[in-house]
Amino acid sequence: MLKKIEQIKNDFYKALETACGTQADLSKLKADFIGKKGAVADILKNMKEASAENIREIGQHVNRLKSEIEAVIDSKIREAETALINEKLKKERIDISLRDSLTDRGLCDAGYHPVTLIQREVEDVFTSMGFEILDGPHIEDDYHNFVALNIPEHHPARDMQDTFWFSDLQHLLRTHTSPIQVRGMETHRPPFKFVGPGKVFRNEATDASHEMVFHQIEGMMVDRNVTVSHLIYFMKTLLSEIFGRTVEVRLRPGFFPFVEPGFELDIKCLICGGKGCPVCKQQGWVELLPCGMVHPNVLKCSGIDTEKYNGFAFGLGLDRLVMMRYGIDDIRHLHGGDLRFIRQFKAY
Ligand code: DAH
Repeated sequence: MLKKIEQIKNDFYKALETACGTQADLSKLKADFIGKKGAVADILKNMKEASAENIREIGQHVNRLKSEIEAVIDSKIREAETALINEKLKKERIDISLRDSLTDRGLCDAGYHPVTLIQREVEDVFTSMGFEILDGPHIEDDYHNFVALNIPEHHPARDMQDTFWFSDLQHLLRTHTSPIQVRGMETHRPPFKFVGPGKVFRNEATDASHEMVFHQIEGMMVDRNVTVSHLIYFMKTLLSEIFGRTVEVRLRPGFFPFVEPGFELDIKCLICGGKGCPVCKQQGWVELLPCGMVHPNVLKCSGIDTEKYNGFAFGLGLDRLVMMRYGIDDIRHLHGGDLRFIRQFKAY
């Protein structure tokens, strides 16, 4: 009997060696040896032949063999499962360092566009001062782009911005980010302050300082007792953060139907230092930041009580900001698609 047990053990290890190691194979092996109809069960059936004193010893041997086979097979099954999972993971692998690996292989030379970079910086400055960031659609309606901003139909101010109209003459590509003010007032109750960055579209000829598609960031603060000093404080903080130095500014009166009083905040041209160049149109100053105190009609139109609240607003040109910062003298470089130009910003 004991010999037979030893034989089964040997047979098992031999069979294990030749088995191909799949889960199904191993389970069959397990059944062949320690299953209900397996080799070990056969021995137990023939126990009658053994003498009484041998029964205990044989029983112990059989149980030990059973546990051994079970342990060996189970660990092989686990190995097979792990191998299977590893193979699956290898196939489904996602390279989270894709950009770097593509760059290593010379396949991708990506970087952020300088307008994106400056937009994020401006957003950071404003969020650090408690402003929310809002978004708005590129395709606007007449109401949000004009009417709610105190520019009714037939108002001459509509001619200030050459508009891409859709054929229904109700919809248009937004000419400025100011409709984000209107949408912000629709969803917020005062006090609030937010900025809204994005693309804007003008149907006009291009030159060194004009593009048909460019970028603005709109800003608005509405609270009790807001003054021009608040406006100047926020604008000065922004510009000194962005340019990393004190920038010379001047305020001129400016007309925009949605503010009263309205201003043009100019900065001394950082490219020519004020001497005159194509960017500043030989003026030495660059119009950078139109702004003003929100016109009561605009607040009223969006249901804000003008007895209690007032505010300021501004619309900053992001492309012009990039040009000033990096000394770029023609706005058309920015979106002209020339990779030699754009690659210079890869490292930022
Ligand atoms: N939306 C104006 C434009 O694109 C810029 C502007 C002027 C925005 C004054 C404002 C503002 O918020 O107060 O020409």
